[in-house]
Amino acid sequence: MTSAPFDFAPLLPPGLPAAAAKWTGLAKYSFVGGNNDPDAVPVEGLTEAINAVLKREGRTLATYGLASGPQGYRPLREFLTRKLKRDAGIDCVADDILIVSGSLQALDLVNASLLARGDTVIVEQDTYQGALNRLTRLGVKVVGIPLDRGGMRMDLLAKTLADLKTKGITPKYIYTIPTVQNPTATIMPEAHRAELLKLSQQYGVPIFEDDCYADLTWDGKRPPAIYAMDKTGSVIHIGSFSKSIAPALRVGFIVAPWAILSRLLALKTDAGSGALEQMVLAEYCSPHFANHVPKLTHGLRAKLDTLIEALNEQFGTAAEFEDSSGGIFLWVKLPDNVDTLKLYQAALAAGVAINPGPEWSTDKAYAGSRLRLCFASPSHEQIREGVAVLAEVCRKEFGVPARIANVEKARA
Ligand SMILES: Cc1ncc(COP(=O)(O)O)c(C=O)c1O
Repeated sequence: MTSAPFDFAPLLPPGLPAAAAKWTGLAKYSFVGGNNDPDAVPVEGLTEAINAVLKREGRTLATYGLASGPQGYRPLREFLTRKLKRDAGIDCVADDILIVSGSLQALDLVNASLLARGDTVIVEQDTYQGALNRLTRLGVKVVGIPLDRGGMRMDLLAKTLADLKTKGITPKYIYTIPTVQNPTATIMPEAHRAELLKLSQQYGVPIFEDDCYADLTWDGKRPPAIYAMDKTGSVIHIGSFSKSIAPALRVGFIVAPWAILSRLLALKTDAGSGALEQMVLAEYCSPHFANHVPKLTHGLRAKLDTLIEALNEQFGTAAEFEDSSGGIFLWVKLPDNVDTLKLYQAALAAGVAINPGPEWSTDKAYAGSRLRLCFASPSHEQIREGVAVLAEVCRKEFGVPARIANVEKARA
């Protein structure tokens, strides 16, 4: 006799996210996710680092939080203070930093500490899907500010803040990815950052700065972090090792004034993020990070060149995009009649995974014919082949592009 499976459904409280789908493997041509270049993971260096640090300090694993307390492995936080000073102009000490399990945990902690259902937050109109999904799930009103090549448009932000004020609404924060924005890859110039700080102070709205991709600029240069320019302690800064070393390590960090960091720490109830990951990163990064990153970005730039070449060859003028200053993705506009949500389904059936624009934007109509292509993880060959398959699928579904590889095609 087989017994009936236990039914959990009546026990589930309202408001849970939809059930997760079972993982069925990566698509043959995967242009999705913030995955990294497998050839750029510094495997040898990480192996040496983990052996050295375990031999030296392995006994500290017997204690939750190692010998460093709940904010994370102190040598990693000390590495970060040096790195953040050098690269982002941030003056901070180890105690201003909380190590988290990927910067996604930082998003959760900041949201848990500041947001209640019905609150309003401001984001860039096209923005990180992971941030948008979280806000939607929390029942927060999300106001998107359009971008230009300098990132979030300050004139429109000023107007929005003024409009909201007349309605008696003070947004809880302004979320921005100012340095290699996701998905547009724009970099907010220093003058715009200063303007953003001015507006934040004028309206009493803190800034939530997500600097996840800031290490990945082609020339190694970047404007100072907004956190570094702030004089009032109104900025929460988050970063990650996912894009510079490896996302599977799940190590990110928060830099914030103690007034708010202490609230975030109180919400981090997991007894500390993975210790081995923090130890290996500190041991590897202190001597090697500065040399590793240019090698990584050199390879990423080459992959972007391959992607641009493939798009030009396969889509011609039908695919519009701006060359970027860094990052791992390209934000592409196709002709208005292409619905990228439909294209996503058809492409997936043909083995090509893309991110449809509407999932990355507060303006679903604007993003309807846009898509995000991540180029870090596929090989050069997969990029070329995948774009060719995508063009073929797009032509079959939408008659676009009419010419592929400069050969006129009839619509199937
Ligand atoms: C803008 C942005 N923030 C945060 C994250 C989360 O990164 P992680 O949790 O791996 O640090 C991502 C991942 O792609 C991202 O694009």
